Amino acid sequence: MSLSTLIRDDARRSTRSGPSPSANDDRGSKPRAAPAIRGLRALLDELDALARRGPLEMSDLRSVFDRLQLRGSDLTAFQLFDSECYRRNRIRRTEAYEMLLICWAPGQESPVHDHRGSICAFQVLEGTCCEQRFERLPDGPEGGLRAAASPEWLEYERGTVCVSRDADIHRVANRCGERNLCTLHVYSPPLDGMRSYQPIAQA
Ligand SMILES: [Fe+2]
Repeated sequence: MSLSTLIRDDARRSTRSGPSPSANDDRGSKPRAAPAIRGLRALLDELDALARRGPLEMSDLRSVFDRLQLRGSDLTAFQLFDSECYRRNRIRRTEAYEMLLICWAPGQESPVHDHRGSICAFQVLEGTCCEQRFERLPDGPEGGLRAAASPEWLEYERGTVCVSRDADIHRVANRCGERNLCTLHVYSPPLDGMRSYQPIAQA
C-alpha cells in the first residue's frame, strides 16, 4: 500500500477522532471545533503563524497533529529511503522549527539520543514504529554519556502521535515487521544539540 493511500486513511481517522475544542471559545455556548489543517501548505502556514506568536509549545504541536489531514500527494517528493541508514528528508527548516519526513527500511534504527534544547512531536504515517526508552546514568569513566535501557519496546501503529521533551532519551526503529516505516517529525527549535548515549542493558 502506498504512502499516499495511507495518508488519506489517516485523514479519515483524524476526522473521526474529532478535533480539540477551540481555546478561544469562552462564551459558554457549544465549543467550536478548531479547524482542520488540510494539506502540507496549510500545515506549514499554521506552524509559521504559531511561531510568529512566540516559541512553539508542546500543546501547539499536539494540536497541529490532531487537526492534520494530509492529502495523498503532499509528501510523495520527500518519501526517500536509503538502504544503508534511515533517511531524514527535510521538508522545511526555519529558526523556529524543522519538519522532517523520516523514512526507515526494515531493521533500521536511530542511535540512543536525547533532544537537548528542543521539543519534538511525530506522527506515524506508514508502518509500525518501535520505541525504546532510557534513563540517564552517570557518565562513563571518560565522560561518555550512558543510559539504561527499558527492557520493553513500545509499538505505535499508523496515526499515532508521540511527543518528546529535551531531556527524554530514546531510540526509534523499524523493527516490528518487514514493511517500510515513515514518520513525520516537527522539532522546535530545530534539533541541533542532540546527544548520543551508550546503551546499558538493565541487570
Ligand atoms: Fe528522537
